[in-house]
Amino acid sequence: MRRIGVLTSGGDAPGMNAAIRAIVRKAIYHGLEVLGFRRGFQGLMSGEYTLMRLGSVADIIHRGGTILLTARAPEFEKESGQQKALQVIANCGLDALLVIGGDGSFRGAAALEKLGVPTIGVPATIDNDIAFTDYTIGFNTAVNNVTDAINKVRDTATSHERVYVIEVMGRTSGYIALAAGLAGGAESILVPEIPFDLSAVVERLQRGVKRGKLHSIILVAEGAASAFSVAEIIKEKTKMDVRVTILGHVQRGGTPTAFDRILASRLGAEAVDLLRSGRHGRMLGFVDGKICSTPLEKALSAKRKFPADIYQLAAILAI
Ligand code: F6P
Repeated sequence: MRRIGVLTSGGDAPGMNAAIRAIVRKAIYHGLEVLGFRRGFQGLMSGEYTLMRLGSVADIIHRGGTILLTARAPEFEKESGQQKALQVIANCGLDALLVIGGDGSFRGAAALEKLGVPTIGVPATIDNDIAFTDYTIGFNTAVNNVTDAINKVRDTATSHERVYVIEVMGRTSGYIALAAGLAGGAESILVPEIPFDLSAVVERLQRGVKRGKLHSIILVAEGAASAFSVAEIIKEKTKMDVRVTILGHVQRGGTPTAFDRILASRLGAEAVDLLRSGRHGRMLGFVDGKICSTPLEKALSAKRKFPADIYQLAAILAI
């Protein structure tokens, strides 16, 4: 193996830069050349890349986003797009490709692996919705961003004795809502993985008010319900002062936490080692404190089990 490629794809995640840095530096340390493709699979199809040097990844470990830029590339899902990428890979003399991203990106990586390109996936998405890893790069930072926002909303919620319905990201998963809801002491957490009953949410609210609570926070995962419709129902049933805050993309930005930087550095370095040992078609993960790897196809067909016990705990503690 002489030359490898790296790209970031899908929604950006804080810590992607730390992963790029680890891959580039570990590969150069072992005498490999690294080409960085811009805008994910888009750049792989159009041949938009640069040779990464030690200095190309200087001063990025603390930056959110991705210096390689990212994109969602529907064309790459088609055979014609994949053939374009294969041509570029052959022209550049690439021996392997490292894909930093979430499940959509891993589907692209698995397709290339099937076509004979040795590929490794490094899990990075704020959603934390990938099986065979306890954490994806970016999740910890996003949870901290949301927790920080909850703290701020709490101040004003208490002063005005209001109910706030806060909507968070996660696409079809509720991991961000659960973790930030537990960390932020939300009164109720609505996630797509667990059926909920809004009358129970209302009862909880009213119980809280009776025992003197000055504010309430309802955290809603975007995949569970719309914060506006939840707020409407609560307002109608309780006649309380209810406001909505949709956190949106602020959750995905900012400097990555030390946890995400360390995770990204370890996973990125391990991705290079895995390739050097001749293993590919795999996704890296962090399970029970250890780095491990799983075949991409297996990871893509599995669904993470939602931690119902932690959900239950959050409900008990916010009673
Ligand atoms: O997958 C990451 C994520 O931030 C999801 O939580 C969210 O649903 C989606 O991306 C938003 O995508 P976009 O950046 O295209 O609006």
